[in-house]
Amino acid sequence: MKAEGKAVVPVSTTESTYKTVIGEQVLADALTELNEGRIWDKLFLIIDENVENLHGDHVHSVLSSHASEVHTQIIPAGEESKSTDHWEQCMDVLLKKGARRNIPVVVVGGGVTGDLGGFVAATALRGMPLIHVPTTLLAMVDSSIGGKTGINHSTGKNLIGAFYQPRLVIADISFLKTLPENEWVNGLSEILKYAAIRDASIFEDCSIFLEDEMNNADPQKLILLIRKCISIKADVVKQDEYESGLRAILNFGHTFAHALETECGYSKISHGQAVFLGMLAACKLSSLTGSTLKDQKLDPFRSLYTYAVERNELSVKKLNRHMMADKKRTGRAIRFVLLESWQHPVLKEVEDEDLIREAWQVAFDELK
Ligand SMILES: NC(=O)c1ccc[n+]([C@@H]2O[C@H](COP(=O)([O-])OP(=O)(O)OC[C@H]3O[C@@H](n4cnc5c(N)ncnc54)[C@H](O)[C@@H]3O)[C@@H](O)[C@H]2O)c1
Repeated sequence: MKAEGKAVVPVSTTESTYKTVIGEQVLADALTELNEGRIWDKLFLIIDENVENLHGDHVHSVLSSHASEVHTQIIPAGEESKSTDHWEQCMDVLLKKGARRNIPVVVVGGGVTGDLGGFVAATALRGMPLIHVPTTLLAMVDSSIGGKTGINHSTGKNLIGAFYQPRLVIADISFLKTLPENEWVNGLSEILKYAAIRDASIFEDCSIFLEDEMNNADPQKLILLIRKCISIKADVVKQDEYESGLRAILNFGHTFAHALETECGYSKISHGQAVFLGMLAACKLSSLTGSTLKDQKLDPFRSLYTYAVERNELSVKKLNRHMMADKKRTGRAIRFVLLESWQHPVLKEVEDEDLIREAWQVAFDELK
């Protein structure tokens, strides 16, 4: 059933302002509006393989009604696809099938396909028009917004890339119906992050995930929630497009999370689980360094997270070593995004290892 409301959030950058359309079954209308009812003579589609299997018929039928030719590259699911090999395979399709600088590249999938496809669009012919169609909650509220594109290198994640803004983002929540529970949780962590750093009303909005199965969430409430998150990211990006300052607040919980991911391995803990634990630790460290976080607003959501990693597998010493190796370090101190109070993030250098140890305990207490 089609939801009545759709929301549009403009994202302003130095180069352009583009729209993010959020709604149910909005893919076709948003493309029609972008091209003012005309038909493209060609479109390139870069699509995640699971999304192709689950929603391919719909996506191909919509794109075929908007273009005379559609050339498709399917991207295997998983972080490994953010590679030079897959970048080159996409380039082969584009360049051999007659890419031109006015032909859009439509990228349909989660953050992996989005980052890869965005980088392909940024680099083919020095830039082809990019249309993001995020299909995970995380990609809708986070990775499709703000223009960061890229692939991984053997020495680290996201080390090859470009800032490249899309022409349009279409967050069609119909895709989310097939999203597995663990992927909802990955998106939820980023949503709770926005609540903590900018808009605490989002904590209440997130109660939709507590009331029912996540993929049965009320469509209207979900659209409003995604809209709020995109507006926050758009506002932060507008003020700090190239990540030279303010954009760091989007890393709330992430310094702890990256250490956990490095220590546990990415298959044992998901990014969303690590970010949730990281936010609990960051809240504790905020309190230990003088903040006044009156109530623990993350508490109601703890029941949505389960972990494969056990506390006896973790050591504070090793985790701290990972944080020390991280680039967010000056001298002996580690730089964290903490909260002065809810909605008021602050960058703090913390040197006292006992405080950091105490903060880790809060995260460990969530584990078996
Ligand atoms: N560019 C940015 O600003 C930014 C921000 C945050 C994260 N990221 C990147 O995003 C990536 C993570 O993105 P993600 O969490 O979306 O993961 P993902 O792209 O790996 O997708 C997660 C899983 O969900 C599947 N999937 C996608 N849509 C689905 C749907 N509608 N139904 C069923 N299954 C579906 C995928 O096949 C995959 O198995 C990481 O590489 C991260 O570095 C980028």
